[in-house]
Amino acid sequence: MRVVLVVPFFSPVGRSCLAAMTRLSGVTHLGLVTHEPLERVPPEHRSAVQHYQIRDCLNPSQLLGAVAAFRTDWGGVDRLVGYLEQMQEPLAAVRSRLGIPGMSEAVARNFREKNQMKEVLRRAGLPVARQALLTDRTSALRFVDRVGYPIVVKPPAGAGSRSTLRVSSEPELGAALERLFVSPSNPAQAEEFVQGAEHSFETVFIDGKPVWHSSSYYLPGPLTVIENPWMQYCVLLPREMPQVAQAFRPTNVAALEALGLNTALTHMEWFRLGSGRTVVSEVAARPPGVQLMPLMSHAHECDFWSKWAELMVFERWSVPPRKWATGVAFFRGQGRGRIVRAVHGLEAAQAAAGDAVVDRKLPRVGQPRSDSYEGEGWAIVRAETTPQAVAALKALVSNVRVELG
Ligand SMILES: Nc1ncnc2c1ncn2[C@@H]1O[C@H](COP(=O)(O)OP(=O)(O)O)[C@@H](O)[C@H]1O
Ligand SMILES: [Mg+2]
Repeated sequence: MRVVLVVPFFSPVGRSCLAAMTRLSGVTHLGLVTHEPLERVPPEHRSAVQHYQIRDCLNPSQLLGAVAAFRTDWGGVDRLVGYLEQMQEPLAAVRSRLGIPGMSEAVARNFREKNQMKEVLRRAGLPVARQALLTDRTSALRFVDRVGYPIVVKPPAGAGSRSTLRVSSEPELGAALERLFVSPSNPAQAEEFVQGAEHSFETVFIDGKPVWHSSSYYLPGPLTVIENPWMQYCVLLPREMPQVAQAFRPTNVAALEALGLNTALTHMEWFRLGSGRTVVSEVAARPPGVQLMPLMSHAHECDFWSKWAELMVFERWSVPPRKWATGVAFFRGQGRGRIVRAVHGLEAAQAAAGDAVVDRKLPRVGQPRSDSYEGEGWAIVRAETTPQAVAALKALVSNVRVELG
């Protein structure tokens, strides 16, 4: 197999993805398209890849130039792969130009454009929030007339909960439209506000058929975390799949089918309302963030990045059964400052939950404030039972306090 992998920069996730692809046997040619120069490629991988630097991996014509160069060199390219949400459409565009198998542009757009995604799901009879694309104040007020406050306003193809706003009144609506620069050429996605517990649902499809699934809890949901900077944040991966998640599975599969998914590891977010009704929030055709890849790796005692690489290149998937409950606690800095001034409670957290911690990146004094809701550090726990994992997460978030100043 001749594979081109796009890793714009070598973040921890980018490194894991690159490492997994270099380990995959049966890959005879591995091209690495990246923003970084050769000397920034992790040294252990330099000899395993053919390096090609471009300035903008999101630019389809630059990407096309790079992949076409590999094709000329190798006589063909069999797979073009990337893990980043924003890359899915440009990757699909280049695949279609060069006749490389993989997700098409139309399917990639279904997963990227929140409005189109929900339109497709609604047409398939699946439960989604009512929505509209806002182009100005008039269209915004018309939507509010239809669904009432509160609503959520966000970028139509956002990621990482950035610029996602809850709007509860007309003055807040005006502020949100200004903040997102809403105009006819720059519309915003508006949705009725769904009040419920938020979960993820990870699914593997091969050739249009589901072969594996998993579900996690967000504690609490990302928007609540963003609205409350003092709050710590956890994601829990239970050892046994909860009944409510099992019951949601047919909806998840029907949604992926409606969107036209062929082969991928997908990451869905969904709500469970107090009434028991479930609502699909959004779904991405790429591996999940919020540390879910390491959480699943620890839970199943195998490397999910390697599994993903094998899936994307050879359309094969096999993971051993889950052995552990896992979870991650995100340590979020409190206060107005831009720098971590102190980290309190580490010893108490270690005493209470240290045995369960299997990986960590602790916040350090002097490090800058994070611009993501995942905060300044994290710890991953693993336990034999789900209640034990919950107890360990609680011990971590109730003891550790990151002071900004
Ligand atoms: N319609 C909605 N009702 C309630 N909360 C929502 C709604 N849409 C988004 N949110 C909240 O905002 C977060 C980010 O929105 P999402 O659509 O997932 O965007 P992103 O692509 O940035 O992850 C969600 O995880 C959820 O907590
Ligand atoms: Mg999301």
